[in-house]
Amino acid sequence: MKQSALAQISQVADGAQLQELRVKYLGKKGELTELLRGMGSLSPEERPVVGQLVNEVRSALEEAFAGKQAALEEAQLAAKLASQSVDVTLPGRPIPAGTMHPLSRIIEEIEDIFIGLGFDIAEGPEVELDHFNFEMLNLPKDHPARDMQDSFYVTEEILMRTHTSPVQARTMLKKEGKTPVKIICPGKVYRRDDDDATHSHQFTQIEGLVVDKGIRMSDLKGTLLTFARQMFGPNQQVRLRPSFFPFTEPSAEVDLQCFKCGGEGCRVCKQTGWIEILGSGMVHPRVLEMAGYDPQEVSGFAFGMGVERIAMLKYGVEDIRHFYTNDVRFLKQFNRS
Ligand code: PHE
Repeated sequence: MKQSALAQISQVADGAQLQELRVKYLGKKGELTELLRGMGSLSPEERPVVGQLVNEVRSALEEAFAGKQAALEEAQLAAKLASQSVDVTLPGRPIPAGTMHPLSRIIEEIEDIFIGLGFDIAEGPEVELDHFNFEMLNLPKDHPARDMQDSFYVTEEILMRTHTSPVQARTMLKKEGKTPVKIICPGKVYRRDDDDATHSHQFTQIEGLVVDKGIRMSDLKGTLLTFARQMFGPNQQVRLRPSFFPFTEPSAEVDLQCFKCGGEGCRVCKQTGWIEILGSGMVHPRVLEMAGYDPQEVSGFAFGMGVERIAMLKYGVEDIRHFYTNDVRFLKQFNRS
């Protein structure tokens, strides 16, 4: 029996067969167990001899079962490893990854420059009160200059902000008359414009505001020139043109040189050589007053720049709509690497 059991065990191919054999020989009703049970009918002289024999066979079989079990498990593991092996010499599969949006990237660059000049970053709501968007900026109801910025009204008192300038008033009120105030505020703004290559009903501005004792127009110009040169290189010039905003006096529009301009056929600056990037001026005394500052004591400058314009100039983008349509072929070109 021992021989035939051992032969069977050695031929077993899987765990289930092995278990079957185990039951057949060592189980409660197994052949070996039956033999032990039958010992009662043996003579006292035979019993120890047969007992010893049965025990020997049992331990031999147990050993064989354990050995076979281990061998089966090992084979199974080997098969699994073989089937899951990784060929490290195969070329990797590229993982498609998004890129930073060019506008976000420009905003970050501009923020870095102004942070370097000691500015803090401020924020304000895109859905704004008429009070902050206009009235606190010296634009009372019925003021004709409200027409400069066709607005999306939500209710009579609430609108989508037409510029980031309401953050000027919000920031000054929060500072409760303390100086210095030195912030920039990036954000989305909304105007009822027809969309074309240079206009969008939603676009991005960065507001700047500095209020302190003795702030002068030359501080505004110096700040903007420093910014322009850090952004576009040491030879960049700025051009200030007299302008009008109800919340600044005097006011100026600021142009940058269009270095993309090969002259003829330049669609970025429409061949003028200059591109307007922001409105600015000295904060109007009324605006300071309404926000809790004494215009006899302090003065300030403010500006609001168009981020898309700067991005268009920097990257030579000829149509503002590229920034919003999210064509991957456009976006992919702004991969950092
Ligand atoms: N808010 C103005 C605009 O959107 C720009 C501006 C900001 C002008 C600050 C002066 C001072 O046109």
